[in-house]
Amino acid sequence: MADDPLTPYGNRPMVTPIVNAVNYEYSSFEVLRQITDGEIDGYTYHRDDNPTVRAVERQIADLEGAEDCVVCTTGMAACTMVYLTYLSAGDHLILFHDVYGAHYKVSLILERLGVEITWLDAADWQSVQANMRPNTKMILCETPSNPLCKLVDIAALAAVAHDAGALFVVDNTFATPFHQKPLELGADLVVHSATKALGGHNDLMAGAIATHKDAYNDLWFTRQAIGTTLDAYSASLLERGLKTFELRAEKIAANGLAMARLLDGHAKVSRLMYPGLENSPGHAIAARQMHRGFGGMLAFDVGETIEDAKRFITALHVIIHAVSLGATESLICVPYLTTMLYLPEERRTTFGVKPHTVRLSAGIEDTDRLLADLDQALDAV
Ligand SMILES: Cc1ncc(COP(=O)(O)O)c(C=O)c1O
Repeated sequence: MADDPLTPYGNRPMVTPIVNAVNYEYSSFEVLRQITDGEIDGYTYHRDDNPTVRAVERQIADLEGAEDCVVCTTGMAACTMVYLTYLSAGDHLILFHDVYGAHYKVSLILERLGVEITWLDAADWQSVQANMRPNTKMILCETPSNPLCKLVDIAALAAVAHDAGALFVVDNTFATPFHQKPLELGADLVVHSATKALGGHNDLMAGAIATHKDAYNDLWFTRQAIGTTLDAYSASLLERGLKTFELRAEKIAANGLAMARLLDGHAKVSRLMYPGLENSPGHAIAARQMHRGFGGMLAFDVGETIEDAKRFITALHVIIHAVSLGATESLICVPYLTTMLYLPEERRTTFGVKPHTVRLSAGIEDTDRLLADLDQALDAV
């Protein structure tokens, strides 16, 4: 150890160094052979692996209770890597309308490549069983879903998938591993937009797939092939975010619940979805599979029209009008005008989103400031 300048005598630095190297010297042909045969965890080329990235992969695997984790450039890269790794022409994929809007674009590419896709309503997740086909290879869901916070029973769908020999993938971005561990409930793969709560500061983009060792190898192969490896600087920012992840997740959930309680039954709020409220759809499922609270994502309808929603958001001073979620700042947006904008018109609204639906992501601000902000902005509607 004494000849390693980073860890002389084994006293490792508290922060994983940012290793910007593209390539690594082979200290001998024997070491080259050991690395390429997988006998040692050495490094050769950044697209293959990087020590800064590897450090966060181990930390995220730990959070999800996974054997390992593959980190990549964005959340959508993670989802696309999952599709490309496990789906071929002629395979059938079940997706829910209630997933992040960009899945629709990826679905167009998959269909062009010969994958059959069935879209279902997450509120009716029980219909998955009836839609399984002999060639169904994968079911992918979000729970709670983006943006309407619909709840899907993870253990029940894992059983449906496994009975048919299909893979069950859960996007855990909204719930975060602080509240929900899909692998423990039977999911095969957990995907994340690590851009959100894992990073947590609106300053990096990354994706993650937490899973077992065999799937790690399959996904690693795809990442190495297509080049979606995260850069070391973003990995370092992600590591820094992870240091406060639990602290932030706890405060975000407390703020989410407090804001939901204020909005619940408010005269200007015609519909509210927050899995932590007993009268919210899906609460019973959430209570079974989420723990230590219900996260910081809410969706609600403001007034009667999109103009009401715009007036409300414009009147906010503390909560910021922006996309993304899970960050230190509370963020609010109109999904109809943002994450769902590029969907065909019928997809933007058929499954429950209305033009005046807003999505609110709680941050870590002082709770009273957030409540006062919401209150005064609702007065402006
Ligand atoms: C639930 C969910 N999954 C995946 C993504 C895609 O993540 P990224 O923007 O990091 O590609 C998002 C983005 O908002 C999301 O909300």
